[in-house]
Amino acid sequence: MNQKNERLITLEEFIISAQNRFPGATGELSQLLRDIGLAAKIISREVNKAGITNILGFEGSENVHGERVKKLDVFSNEQMISALSRSNNVCMIISEESDGIIRLKSSSGKYIVYTDPLDGSSNIDVNVSIGTIFSVYVRKSHRADYPTIDDAIQDGLSQVAAGYVIYGSSTMLAYTTGLGVSTFTLDPSIGEFFLADQDVKIPKMGPFYSINEGSYNSWEQGLKKYVKYCQEEDKETMRPYSARYIGSMVADVHRILLKGGIFIYPRSKSYPNGKLRLMYECNPLAFIIEQAGGKASDGLKRILEVKPTDIHQRCPIFIGSKENVEMAEKFLKEYKEVPVS
Ligand code: AHG
Ligand code: MN
Ligand code: MN
Repeated sequence: MNQKNERLITLEEFIISAQNRFPGATGELSQLLRDIGLAAKIISREVNKAGITNILGFEGSENVHGERVKKLDVFSNEQMISALSRSNNVCMIISEESDGIIRLKSSSGKYIVYTDPLDGSSNIDVNVSIGTIFSVYVRKSHRADYPTIDDAIQDGLSQVAAGYVIYGSSTMLAYTTGLGVSTFTLDPSIGEFFLADQDVKIPKMGPFYSINEGSYNSWEQGLKKYVKYCQEEDKETMRPYSARYIGSMVADVHRILLKGGIFIYPRSKSYPNGKLRLMYECNPLAFIIEQAGGKASDGLKRILEVKPTDIHQRCPIFIGSKENVEMAEKFLKEYKEVPVS
């Protein structure tokens, strides 16, 4: 029993009870989500061992068990693929770690999953929070047909589920199927995720801005002005905002989801289309934040409405509390640079 004397609800129980509310549901999506839960637990265990692995052997060397030590992003990719191959529900995976599509043996599976198996890899060596992101679509072609890349090119509005796992001071999983956002915390001692919140709502406005300010000189004018606005004093709008930037999108957006504010990865001279990937970074987190009552924009339009043309395409992102994102959009519009013809 917890302190409030309430019965704890496991991730499995929660998924099943959500499925039971839809009499026609086949259980395939529920199984897929449970499979992701399993991958999350295995990755979490490995993440927690990463520090000790560094002492016992570097990537490519052998660990104490005589096994090859793998890079955590390669390991996480393998775990996601293996978990999603368990139940014949997924026909194809697109991963940040693989150039092309990954066809699974179950080519009649109903779902396509995009994943960033290990987000924030530059933070692994310094013991800072990292994550896993996933996004689920129903294939466009008939299940008897062989799935192709065309099945995977769908806009973010077509996602049927999306979520992330954050490996932080505790491991948490957040997901949505379009009916709000639920979060779960892993109890590592028994290997079980327990429900933390079943309807997370992001504050309408928040006091944090999260952006890599080292790139300031290569930003467009409107963004420079917006960040200066964030730093000005005005009690009514909670300014000056505090700057928070971890360098793991999952961790930065998780803070914004719980506390409010804005996370930005803009276009810049080095990244003319932004750095983050539309299909497995921007879309899933946009789905989560919108379901929590927030907003996600590429600066001009809703992220979920961006028409994809490539599985690995990049996209600028402004995501978080509704009022913060709308204000950023206003600055971009006002100072929009007219291209010289
Ligand atoms: P990944 O580790 O999957 O390549 O993603 C890293 C991403 C994202 O998590 C983070 O927001 C961003 O890169 C940080 O980039 P900068 O170092 O350019 O700020
Ligand atoms: Mn990433
Ligand atoms: Mn990654």
